[in-house]
Amino acid sequence: MNRRDFIRYGTAASLSLVACQAQAGRTPITRKALPIPPLKKPDVRNGIDQYDLTIHEAKHLFFDGVATRTYAIDGTYLGPTLLLERGHKVSINYTNRLKEVTTMHGHGMHVPARMDGTAHQTIAPGTTWSAIYTVNQRACTNWYHPHAMGKTAEQVYKGMAGLILIEDDESRALDLPRRYGIDDIPLVLQDRHFDRGQIDYSPSMPEIMHGYVGDTFLVNGAIEPIFDAEAKELRLRILNGSNSSIYALGFVEGLTMQQIATDNAFLEAPVAMQKLVLSPGERAEVILDLGRHSGKTFELYDYYNKKSFMTIRVSKKPTATTTLPIRLTTLERLDPAKAVRTRRFVLEGRMMRLMINGKSMDMGRIDEKVPVGETEIWEVENTMPMHHNFHIHATHFEPIDRDGKAENIYPNERGHKDVILVPSGSTVRFVVRMSDYTDPATPYMYHCHFLEHEDNGMMGQFAVV
Ligand code: C2O
Ligand code: CU
Ligand code: CU
Repeated sequence: MNRRDFIRYGTAASLSLVACQAQAGRTPITRKALPIPPLKKPDVRNGIDQYDLTIHEAKHLFFDGVATRTYAIDGTYLGPTLLLERGHKVSINYTNRLKEVTTMHGHGMHVPARMDGTAHQTIAPGTTWSAIYTVNQRACTNWYHPHAMGKTAEQVYKGMAGLILIEDDESRALDLPRRYGIDDIPLVLQDRHFDRGQIDYSPSMPEIMHGYVGDTFLVNGAIEPIFDAEAKELRLRILNGSNSSIYALGFVEGLTMQQIATDNAFLEAPVAMQKLVLSPGERAEVILDLGRHSGKTFELYDYYNKKSFMTIRVSKKPTATTTLPIRLTTLERLDPAKAVRTRRFVLEGRMMRLMINGKSMDMGRIDEKVPVGETEIWEVENTMPMHHNFHIHATHFEPIDRDGKAENIYPNERGHKDVILVPSGSTVRFVVRMSDYTDPATPYMYHCHFLEHEDNGMMGQFAVV
């Protein structure tokens, strides 16, 4: 029996305690219940929603009887889920108890550059840095992660990341599952290399270039966990939280996913799909209708890397009902015909350095000055024999085409995105507008979100002027 059959057999036979072998180091594991990151509600002080978070070294149990050294926020791996309310003033206070410098970026957050948590807003060991702003964007699933120069990949790999959920009146008015941990479930998907039970971050040069894909796949910090679902609609908020892995997600049993939200907002209407492709940093919210599947199990599988992520077991009676709406929202659209300019970004590699437009990242250089309020087209070309993606801070964008063809933008990408896959040899265009928060002195960043690429130079800076 190969490992995959073994897992499947185990899944069918006895779901509670199926021991299997993690491939790296053959460390035994017991399949756990899916851990749900605790939901962090704010402490209201001086009319501000305060979220106090501590970044520290910790030990996490990935394997039976092995304490794995990690970096984490509050807990032992990853961090709590922050629930932010649109219109509220928030202060997210990060205290760094590590022995090294870090930063904490709110990925997908529409905030002033000084509050963005890029490589410029460093948090020295023993100090606290606060991201203070008014939540000024639509309901969506964002995340926070470090962004320190040259350190992002390793710090994320050790466990630093967490989700930020934004809710607003519109999201609450939709008949969607929203009972966190019951029918509204965050899934932080990652893969890791382990060496004798310890996280092993040691990519070779080819792995830096082609992707450092680990042999152990994790969901919320657990190896192939099991989730017990109610026999009703289930909402999954999925983050590709990996360093450099593309995932093509689907259910082995052929369950349809209805995608309701992409990176920065709901889609206008649900998009039905069998396979969901997510590159690093991308998010998708999907609804599964488990109403008629009582007693069945479904395996969430990555068809790209041929690995199993987790099992959903429909074992509980519904304690609420929801009915997926046919329409979800209306998105404000930018008209590409009104664009005042096109900016070009060429992703390239030379002499083992990764670059955008012939330049590797330099914190002292602002590459682009983007005037506030002007509609622009950004054109990103990947000249390399490997896949990249492209992420911008500060706001979302709307994809226009890939290789000149609008139909190469998939229905689930026709929304408000902040990361987009730019496959080898292809060109992606999107339309974007910086709506506010000018600060000529403090840049935001754009980069490939394959963290090894970002750390090795494939990043640039723009200021909104
Ligand atoms: Cu998710 Cu510049 O980052
Ligand atoms: Cu970001
Ligand atoms: Cu890349």
